[in-house]
This record gives sequence, C-alpha cells and structure tokens, in this order.
Amino acid sequence: MLSVKGTLGGVVRPALHYPFRNLEKLMPTRDDAWKLLCEFTDSESLRKHMLAVEACVRAYARKQHADEELWGITALLHDFDYERWPNNEHSPDKEHPAEGAKILREHGYSEEIIRAIMSHADYSGVVRQTPLEHTLFACDELAGFLTACSYVRPSKSILDLEVDSVKRRLKDKAFAKGVSREDVRKGAEELGIPLEDHIGFCISAMREEADALGLRGNIGAQAAGS
Ligand SMILES: [Fe+2]
Repeated sequence: MLSVKGTLGGVVRPALHYPFRNLEKLMPTRDDAWKLLCEFTDSESLRKHMLAVEACVRAYARKQHADEELWGITALLHDFDYERWPNNEHSPDKEHPAEGAKILREHGYSEEIIRAIMSHADYSGVVRQTPLEHTLFACDELAGFLTACSYVRPSKSILDLEVDSVKRRLKDKAFAKGVSREDVRKGAEELGIPLEDHIGFCISAMREEADALGLRGNIGAQAAGS
C-alpha cells in the first residue's frame, strides 16, 4: 500500500465529502423501514406482529448495549414479505424470507440485517450465529403468543398479563395452536436465559408499546400507570 505522502505526492488535498453523503443515503432509517413494511403488508395484525417483535428486540438491544436502531429495523422488517410470499412450501430460496432479502438488498439494507432476517426461518438454511439473530428468533414466536394471551383476557390487555398465566397457556395445546411451543422453548435456550425470564422481559417490552400494539384493551391509561 502506498503511503499517504507517496499517494498524494506530498500535497494535502481537501477531504472529499460526497462519498459519505452517498453512504448515508444507502442506510435506510426506521421511517424508511416502516414505509417499506406498509407497502408490502396490508394486514393490520401482521403489522402489529412486526411492531411487537420490534418492541421486544429493541428492549434486548438496550439491555445488551447493542445497536438499537439496527436491531429494531431488523425486527420490524422480519416478516414484511410474508403477506405477499407466505412460503407454505418452506422453500429455502423462494418466497418469504428469501424474496424479501432481495428487496432489502436493493434498498440498501446491510447484510447483517438481511442475514438475521433469513436466519429467523429455520428452513432458510441460514444458521443463527449472532446475538441479534438469536434474539430475533427468540422474540418472534413469543411475541405472537403474548398477543394471543392478551386477547383472551377479560381486559383484552397485556397490561395485566402475568408470566404464570402465559406458562399455563403454553401447556394448553388447544390454545393458539399456530404457535410452536418448541420454537418458544428453543428461543429462550438460544438466549441462554430461563423461559420465565424471557416471557417476563417480553411482556414488559410490549407493555411499553401497548397502545401502538393495540394491547391496552379496556384498561384505561390512568389505571395502567397506577
Ligand atoms: Fe414473525
């Protein structure tokens, strides 16, 4: 590699700023991610699911002093292509999440984000390795289950949902059959924390976003804060 002096022939040139401006343009923001999500997803419940997973993953990012924006955007977009390409055949390289990965790449999302989204589907063949990848997987199925648990409460709220109640529901095979108990268990295991702790942590994270997630139910704002 040439030295600075050799490269510049001893002349100090002004810094070129435009490459950095271009780089900034290539980094989509949370607003960009939300717009993309809404472009591909009409379903209100699927949008709320992605918001719920985002809330949990962001809370873990804060706890671990990780890059909250990066983790949040990853979680927000993890199912953005699901409505259009549901992938009932579980193809590793067609439909969700492979189709979404192509679109994300075109929009300038980082490979770190794309890899994490690919890895949340076991059938993609992308093995989970990073803390973000394990966290996304761990929060995905559980967030859906916590939403289902909240809906059947008299309050229809997550604000009075407790860990013990969730654990009882997990044992009830007839309840929320679409949620893989095995994935919920495996998620906590991948995080290396007891399932109870994982459930409690995600309940707290989702409570903070109860209004955005439509999970305040009939518990008033005042009562919730008391
Ligand atoms: Fe999901």
